Amino acid sequence: MQSLIKLSVIFCCIFLFACQGSVDSKVASSEKVVDDSVVENQALHAIFNRKSVRQYTEREISQDVLDNLLRAGMAAPSSRDRRPWHFIVISDKEILDNLGGQLRNAFFMAGANKAIVVCGDEELSDNCWFVDCSAVTQNILIAAESMGLGAVWTAVYPYDDRADIVRETFGLQKNIHAFAIIPLGYPLEKNEPKNKFDESRIHYNKW
Ligand SMILES: Cc1cc2nc3c(=O)[nH]c(=O)nc-3n(C[C@H](O)[C@H](O)[C@H](O)COP(=O)(O)O)c2cc1C
Repeated sequence: MQSLIKLSVIFCCIFLFACQGSVDSKVASSEKVVDDSVVENQALHAIFNRKSVRQYTEREISQDVLDNLLRAGMAAPSSRDRRPWHFIVISDKEILDNLGGQLRNAFFMAGANKAIVVCGDEELSDNCWFVDCSAVTQNILIAAESMGLGAVWTAVYPYDDRADIVRETFGLQKNIHAFAIIPLGYPLEKNEPKNKFDESRIHYNKW
């Protein structure tokens, strides 16, 4: 009889433990659905984690990584699909130092491993090249984040003084405009993205 009671107690304990486990797993999985839908979505992960990074290690960026950045840039949408972009990849330390010394807004470029100058050709799109180049620049920044790189959008357009410096440095033809420079490198330290979500900026159906 005693052993029967013991057996029943053990059975009850196992049953209660199993029930608790299933409740826990239900709670966990209902929480996970929300978390995973964001974390497992690699595009959203890169978008939400992107931040401007201005300090870099000396680690070399490989040609494969660079190719992916350029491919990401060229995957951008463009007005009438004109794709009015060109890219100047700067890997020469002397040019990085030189430009960093001249462009106060991008002085940290001197410490970058590479930089990409995003350029627009007004002969391919006279009124939209800078809008298209914007999409290109953002694509590159998100791709950089997704590959563990640090990057930052440094504006050339619409500042004539900066544009002149870049034009002079690379001998750009008249129809080619430097739009932005993206210094690149592996981040020196962990930088946190800002949370910019602001519900007050959202308007449904009316202002
Ligand atoms: C159009 C544009 C121009 C920018 N120009 C510069 C720049 O010249 N130098 C710089 O250090 N950062 C520049 N930034 C980066 C911004 O300062 C940065 O995006 C902003 O502070 C928000 O921070 P986050 O990128 O980390 O979210 C520019 C960003 C944009 C979109």
